[in-house]
Amino acid sequence: MRQYCGLTSFLCLCAALTVVCLGVVVYAADRHGLQEQLLHGREVFEQNCIMCHGVDAKGTGQLAAALPVRPADLTNCKLTDEDPVLVGQGIIRHGGPYTGRSSGMPAFGTVLSNSDIVDVARYVRSLCADPEWVSRELDFPHPLITSKAFPEQHMTVGGGFGRNGTNVNEYFGLLEYRVNGLTNIGIKSRVLSINPNIGTAESGLGDSVLSVNRVVAFSPLYRALASVGLDLALPTGNDRRGLGDGSVVFEPSLRAGVDWKRVVVQAAGALVLPAQTSNINSEATFNVAIGRYFFLDPRLQITPMIELNTTTSLSEPSYGETKSAILPLIRVKWLRWALGVGVQAPITDARDFEVRPLFDLIYDY
Ligand code: HEC
Repeated sequence: MRQYCGLTSFLCLCAALTVVCLGVVVYAADRHGLQEQLLHGREVFEQNCIMCHGVDAKGTGQLAAALPVRPADLTNCKLTDEDPVLVGQGIIRHGGPYTGRSSGMPAFGTVLSNSDIVDVARYVRSLCADPEWVSRELDFPHPLITSKAFPEQHMTVGGGFGRNGTNVNEYFGLLEYRVNGLTNIGIKSRVLSINPNIGTAESGLGDSVLSVNRVVAFSPLYRALASVGLDLALPTGNDRRGLGDGSVVFEPSLRAGVDWKRVVVQAAGALVLPAQTSNINSEATFNVAIGRYFFLDPRLQITPMIELNTTTSLSEPSYGETKSAILPLIRVKWLRWALGVGVQAPITDARDFEVRPLFDLIYDY
């Protein structure tokens, strides 16, 4: 019976993920309003910005040479897409110092109307000519466990503190690099510290993970995206001391996210397939996070979220057994820094821990 329930709930969760993915695909575009906004934005740009940024927007205007800092090349996707659109508007409204940049970029808050600023910021965004550049607007608030579909470029440190008979504390460092508009790669290493109530304590390097993630569908207009990923876990942790799984593990995944009126749903399903199955089980994992974000200032984003984390065994004798946990968390983001703090608690009988406080600190470089 328990096997049956585990498998059913896993299939339901997969169905939910499929619905999110299909939603991404079937959305049809209405670009009319956007076109008008861009035309007006272009006019504003030609009247106010080209003396520094240049007609080609590459930073080649007449005044450029006289400025202490070279005006940004606004056709560079990586540069103009660095900040969320609201922050881009803030730079135009309040000038470069708004995000710690040079005051060579003047403030237009008193010169331009609000709609001028909104439209010119849109126009600047549209100068990124790479049609395969997944926009920062789809970089939704980061959950603690659910993998994101967005191709991030982050440095992250974090940890989890499992409380039960074994008391496993895990710390990790993760470096991700955005290779192009659609793809990012990552490397993660872990340090474990195991402090059982009975038995000897162990600590040291855990297993490491190499990863690649590629967006397969995205719509900035409807604020949705989906990606496929592959993680490769390497047995760098000593399995006899309980610090690793002792096997190479392949982890193909499917991820998706959608933002509907500032309510963000992100989901990731993965298969965990060890090359040698003697030590560890094959598993299917499904994680979903739902949250609502708020801005106290365009630079400060606060997102309460809740995650559901499930792991279903695909190996005998526990085939079909599902471990589920809920994870309420809060994510606070200031410009390029983001801190997440949450507490994971099991909701099924089968469990690895009683409660597990988790945190991470992300820097977007
Ligand atoms: C007096 C010259 C000048 C004018 C006029 C000017 N800019 Fe700038 N702008 C700069 C400089 C210099 C920078 C680079 C600041 C830095 O990197 O510290 C910059 C940076 C920017 C950035 C930040 C790009 C990034 O790095 O993400 C945006 C966006 C921008 N300008 C938009 C505009 C828009 C839109 C207008 C017209 C409404 C405009 N600028 C007018 C000089 C100017």
